[in-house]
Amino acid sequence: LRDRQPIIAIDGPAGAGKSTVARQVATELGLIYLDTGAMYRAVTWLALQQGIAIDDECAIAELVNQCKIELTPSQDLQSPVRVWINDTDVTQAIRTKEVTSQVSAIAAQSAVRQALVKQQQIWGKRGGLVAEGRDIGSHVFPDAEIKIFLTASVSERAHRRQQDFQKLGQPQVSLEELERDIAERDRKDSTRKVSPLQKAADAIEIQSDGLSASEVAMQIIDYYQQRLS
Ligand code: DC
Repeated sequence: LRDRQPIIAIDGPAGAGKSTVARQVATELGLIYLDTGAMYRAVTWLALQQGIAIDDECAIAELVNQCKIELTPSQDLQSPVRVWINDTDVTQAIRTKEVTSQVSAIAAQSAVRQALVKQQQIWGKRGGLVAEGRDIGSHVFPDAEIKIFLTASVSERAHRRQQDFQKLGQPQVSLEELERDIAERDRKDSTRKVSPLQKAADAIEIQSDGLSASEVAMQIIDYYQQRLS
């Protein structure tokens, strides 16, 4: 018998729809949603805010070991998970273009990963969560009951990003530019030395082109129910 509740790990490249899917699965199953990307973004925001150079690994290591990150679950599917770092609410600030363009460099630093993974494992000790990121099934929770590797083609992901921008009323970015950004982020996330984005050997791959977030969430919930029955 396990001494913890089940864990669902959802990994995959940027823009594959992990967040929407993970939140739906968590809500449906009454599990806690853990957005680990938000943690890397929060550290990036703090470094930028304090004027620390992104490649100053010593200063960033000190920063990450001294900061306090809190994630407070959202009340419903529409409102975001709130993210705090050192008591500042950075829920929106961590989604800017500037943070997005620098976060890969922060996420590649081993001191950062060590500190954040440790925190994630503490939060996950009792299980009962849907954790989303790049290294969850392979590294953070290798004994997760369900491991999903969620992908979509670069063009599908660029389309979805463009729709997100539209919904948020943000300035239009061309599909070409979005595709370039996504391909570049994939390259950085999968070629870095420490915990690169990779599919765990025992993960189920879901290719989500042409599927809605709800359809993907349903598939995962089916796996979960089969697995745990
Ligand atoms: O999922 P996201 O776009 O919010 O992730 C932000 C960055 O953090 C992205 O460059 C990948 C990185 N990341 C990571 O390296 N490991 C995780 N578990 C989650 C995110």
